[in-house]
Amino acid sequence: MYQRAAFVLFLACGIVFQLCHGVEVQVKDQESKLCLYANLMVNFSVSYDIAGNKSATAEFVLPTAVTTVGSECDAKSSLLKLNFGEGHSWSVNFTNDNQVYQADSITFTYNLSDTALFPDSLNNDTKTSTVKPHITKVGLDTCYSCKSNDMLEDVSVNQTLFDVLIQAFVNNGSKSEQITSCAADTPSTVGPTTHAPTTHAPTTHAPTTHTTATPTTTPTTTPTPTLPSPTTGKYSLKLDNSSTVCLLADFGLRISLKQGDKYEEMNFEPNGTTVTGSCGVNSSELVLVSNTMNISFTFLNDTKKFRLHALNVTGKTSSGAAFSEANSSLSLWEAGVGSSYMCNKEQNYTITGLLTIYTFDLRVQPFGVKKDNFSTAHECSMDDTSILIPIIVGAALAGLILIVVIAYVIGRRKTYVGYQTL
Ligand SMILES: *[C@@H]1O[C@H](CO)[C@@H](O)[C@H](O)[C@H]1NC(C)=O
Ligand SMILES: *[C@@H]1O[C@H](CO)[C@@H](O)[C@H](O)[C@H]1NC(C)=O
Ligand SMILES: *[C@@H]1O[C@H](CO)[C@@H](O)[C@H](O)[C@H]1NC(C)=O
Ligand SMILES: *[C@@H]1O[C@H](CO)[C@@H](O)[C@H](O)[C@H]1NC(C)=O
Ligand SMILES: *[C@@H]1O[C@H](CO)[C@@H](O)[C@H](O)[C@H]1NC(C)=O
Ligand SMILES: *[C@@H]1O[C@H](CO)[C@@H](O)[C@H](O)[C@H]1NC(C)=O
Ligand SMILES: *[C@@H]1O[C@H](CO)[C@@H](O)[C@H](O)[C@H]1NC(C)=O
Ligand SMILES: *[C@@H]1O[C@H](CO)[C@@H](O)[C@H](O)[C@H]1NC(C)=O
Ligand SMILES: *[C@@H]1O[C@H](CO)[C@@H](O)[C@H](O)[C@H]1NC(C)=O
Ligand SMILES: *[C@@H]1O[C@H](CO)[C@@H](O)[C@H](O)[C@H]1NC(C)=O
Ligand SMILES: *[C@@H]1O[C@H](CO)[C@@H](O)[C@H](O)[C@H]1NC(C)=O
Ligand SMILES: *[C@@H]1O[C@H](CO)[C@@H](O)[C@H](O)[C@H]1NC(C)=O
Repeated sequence: MYQRAAFVLFLACGIVFQLCHGVEVQVKDQESKLCLYANLMVNFSVSYDIAGNKSATAEFVLPTAVTTVGSECDAKSSLLKLNFGEGHSWSVNFTNDNQVYQADSITFTYNLSDTALFPDSLNNDTKTSTVKPHITKVGLDTCYSCKSNDMLEDVSVNQTLFDVLIQAFVNNGSKSEQITSCAADTPSTVGPTTHAPTTHAPTTHAPTTHTTATPTTTPTTTPTPTLPSPTTGKYSLKLDNSSTVCLLADFGLRISLKQGDKYEEMNFEPNGTTVTGSCGVNSSELVLVSNTMNISFTFLNDTKKFRLHALNVTGKTSSGAAFSEANSSLSLWEAGVGSSYMCNKEQNYTITGLLTIYTFDLRVQPFGVKKDNFSTAHECSMDDTSILIPIIVGAALAGLILIVVIAYVIGRRKTYVGYQTL
């Protein structure tokens, strides 16, 4: 099963290599329609002061664990903000003139207190570097693509953008198939005649449709495997005062919280948890309050499908430090309205740069619960055993048939040969 998954991934990477190592994010507007898409890589080189009148250079890449909190989409201007690590962020500001759009500025904010990135830094401030990117004259309703390196220099920060695929001002919720390539990617014809970027249909970097709408799913955590599996909680909500169950959720939950360069893992204890929330037509909320944590899950009904849209976890760590981590641009646990989402395997989801959640024996149905029971499950791809079993049975049957056929052929030949010698 794992092999099969790996194989599919390998195929996808072979064809669309650039999608497999970049940081992919999707920003949704108030109607939860896609309004800004980006898949890119950024390398940073930052010089900072250390003791003895010297300076050090930190080199790092934009991690895949980013959140898009703070991103905004408007008709005329948009902001892509990627937050990562200990209070670092990288944002790009877009504007359009109804025909083309451009990136006005890239603002990189970095926190020199982060000793993991900036060891021995004398300064502990948060600094900002603003540069003007070379993303201009991108046709509206096209994706900007630039595989070439684009180095942007500032006083103490150099950043290199590469394998960039961006669409701002996405029209009506779906990313365009049209590409506007940067000049550096277009093989130079005779002389630098026009600087206008060329627009053409996508060739290799057409996005595969099975990329999930999750901002991030690749955690960078290194867990301590000492914690026992969390107890599976069974939670349900009733519609107003009636006895009708309108929301069902079963899962074991563990959270992992990044603190400095360490991770603290905590199991969510269902015993003694109070369950509140609301069931709506378009949105349902489940709020769990335990001794150690408050968690709220917001699910959206998007006409035909539901998904976990927002998650807010607040609580205290074992050392007593308060934390509050929230992300309201998630697209997890998607399934058709009227069915349930199920994932028995342990799964991990990066919610913010600091928070990763692990789920065990997950099954949720936030809409259309009938007769207080879960409806048909849409299983996550990790639970492929349901598909695998028929394949194994089919293969076994085919093998059996083959053996019978061979046995028959051999049998016939033997009889034939027998007659001959007689
Ligand atoms: C980006 O950084 C990584 C790791 O430091 C390095 O392997 C890669 O060559 C860099 N790429 C560019 C284009 O600078
Ligand atoms: C940025 O690049 C320039 C030119 O390559 C180089 O001189 C400078 O040292 C670099 N700065 C950093 C912080 O890497
Ligand atoms: C640090 O540099 C400044 C000027 O660049 C100089 O005046 C000072 O003596 C230096 N200090 C040390 C400890 O080297
Ligand atoms: C900067 O990093 C320090 C140490 O990791 C952290 O305590 C602080 O909250 C960070 N600042 C911001 C603005 O996130
Ligand atoms: C975009 O950048 C321009 C110029 O740097 C600035 O004036 C404007 O406020 C920015 N817009 C947003 C939404 O950040
Ligand atoms: C930052 O540096 C100042 C002065 O060097 C110091 O007083 C302050 O405690 C430091 N703050 C943190 C969070 O380390
Ligand atoms: C936008 O998409 C919706 C459904 O996805 C469709 O009903 C509507 O006609 C579209 N509007 C435009 C302007 O394309
Ligand atoms: C629920 O019950 C309370 C008291 O029993 C009543 O005041 C309230 O109106 C009821 N709400 C609904 C939606 O029926
Ligand atoms: C739940 O907690 C109560 C009181 O702390 C305890 O008596 C009970 O056995 C617990 N139940 C389970 C299933 O752990
Ligand atoms: C989901 O939303 C659609 C349209 O917004 C609505 O017709 C449908 O009744 C909703 N489903 C549930 C179970 O609330
Ligand atoms: C998360 O929940 C806490 C406490 O319930 C609240 O103070 C905070 O504003 C919430 N954050 C978001 C982003 O909703
Ligand atoms: C998160 O899940 C992926 C597979 O979905 C797995 O490869 C990875 O090891 C998991 N990470 C952690 C920290 O458990």
